[in-house]
Amino acid sequence: KVLIVDFGSQVTQLIARRVREAGVYCEIAPYQKAEAAFAALKPKAVIFSGGPASVLEEGSPRAPQSIFEAGVPILGICYGEQLLAAQLGGEVQGGHDGEYGRAEVEAIAESPLFDGVWEQGRHTVWMSHGDRVTKLPPGFQSIGHSPNAPVCVIADEARRFYGLQFHPEVHHTPEGPQLISNFVHKIAGLKSDWTMHAFRAEAVKAIRAQVGQGRVLCALSGGVDSSVAALLIHEAIGDRLTCVFVDHGMLRQGEAEQVVSLFRGHYNIPLVHVDASETFLKALDGVQEPEEKRKIIGKLFIDVFDAEAKKIAADGRGAPEFLAQGTLYPDVIESVSFQGGPSVTIKSHHNVGGLPARMKMKLVEPLRELFKDEVRALGRELGLPEIFVGRHPFPGPGLAIRLPGGVTAEKLAILRKADAIYLDEIRKAGLYDKIWQAFAVLLPVKSVGVMGDGRTYDFVCALRAVTSTDGMTADFFHFDMNFLGRAATRIINEVRGINRVVYDVTSKPPGTIEWE
Ligand code: XMP
Repeated sequence: KVLIVDFGSQVTQLIARRVREAGVYCEIAPYQKAEAAFAALKPKAVIFSGGPASVLEEGSPRAPQSIFEAGVPILGICYGEQLLAAQLGGEVQGGHDGEYGRAEVEAIAESPLFDGVWEQGRHTVWMSHGDRVTKLPPGFQSIGHSPNAPVCVIADEARRFYGLQFHPEVHHTPEGPQLISNFVHKIAGLKSDWTMHAFRAEAVKAIRAQVGQGRVLCALSGGVDSSVAALLIHEAIGDRLTCVFVDHGMLRQGEAEQVVSLFRGHYNIPLVHVDASETFLKALDGVQEPEEKRKIIGKLFIDVFDAEAKKIAADGRGAPEFLAQGTLYPDVIESVSFQGGPSVTIKSHHNVGGLPARMKMKLVEPLRELFKDEVRALGRELGLPEIFVGRHPFPGPGLAIRLPGGVTAEKLAILRKADAIYLDEIRKAGLYDKIWQAFAVLLPVKSVGVMGDGRTYDFVCALRAVTSTDGMTADFFHFDMNFLGRAATRIINEVRGINRVVYDVTSKPPGTIEWE
């Protein structure tokens, strides 16, 4: 196991992803809690992340001294490298030219860190630093340099301490993954035993131990997280899992049928399909304000789920005491906060996450340790069809927030058809997996058109597609114009009620991905 100590870098999670891709389990702890995390995890290696502070500032973050004395190898990245220098008796200075972006580094000594990757020549790396190490701490030597950082890679081979001025975890350092792999495998001697195959068996054991003879309820949405959680729990406890699929009527075309046939038909998992579309439509009648829509759906979802849970509790098989949740590792990681301060609510998100407070049940969270890409890999391991595994994110309130101006059964039907055609074209063009999320929005605007010899006066449909890595920032997807033309023609020809199609070219920020 590897402990990653976070000093507030934007890309600390990428370090964790790279370590795990190397087949080694790791956890992230904020630097303030590093000592306790070290004691709990008993790691065989430690990585210090980068961070926005300068070791020259008074009160800037430090690593616990005990970690240096624990006898485990340490890799310091950027701020982490400067910490090694500052805390072990070297020197760091500011005021030189910084290096931001692409740089070239050359190895100037042999090291297991460079094995098989960096023995010779110059290598492209991604840098982002102002300060630099100017005097090596005792025991260290410089093993790599760059034009603006004569001391760019440092090593104390005896203690197995390494420092990199650049970021090996980011995409722009092409050989970064191998350097990280060398650190965890060759230097720390760790084996590649973190695989989803191994995780599956461990997780099944852990679920059995936690649940005993109890029953588990799972709110299934059809998204990849709840689907994978349900499959895993079902493997562990069989029919003592009951899935509840609350169909709020705001799902995409064919989605409810797909979920029901996969879980009930294919996997034979007990599934209660609650068709509550009428109830939700009625509650949303005449509501236009996006936050109000979100709150109504969120609250009603919990009410409907709760009512269903009561029925299940009364079925004579004993009341379920556990609630399954598809919580992922990024939701669990504690972040290093320098400014703190309350953040503004842009949208009140609704998903099954709102359930635990109300249900007062014990939580089963088998995916707590996993990143999204690991959940997908686990889904494949469990035989979940690709159409579920690779599915774009879909918001809890569903199509309701893609109908600005208000939700009606008629508008829902129009939007569903347009959305299905758009996604069909995207799949046919082989673009689905290149896009983070793509969907249609039906605008509450009518425009005049001419079809055949007649005048039309119908709705405008907006198409949206974005690329993103985490949904926090996004760029609009640059389709080929011919593609957009094709999709628009099909939508207008095949969907009655739409006579004009526009494409949304807003990135996030300033836009958000969804329109409401
Ligand atoms: P925005 O629109 O805020 O969306 O840029 C970022 C990502 O979050 C999804 N989203 C939601 N997911 N419940 C969810 O589970 C919600 O209420 C919700 N609202 C937005 C959105 O689809 C995008 O992937």
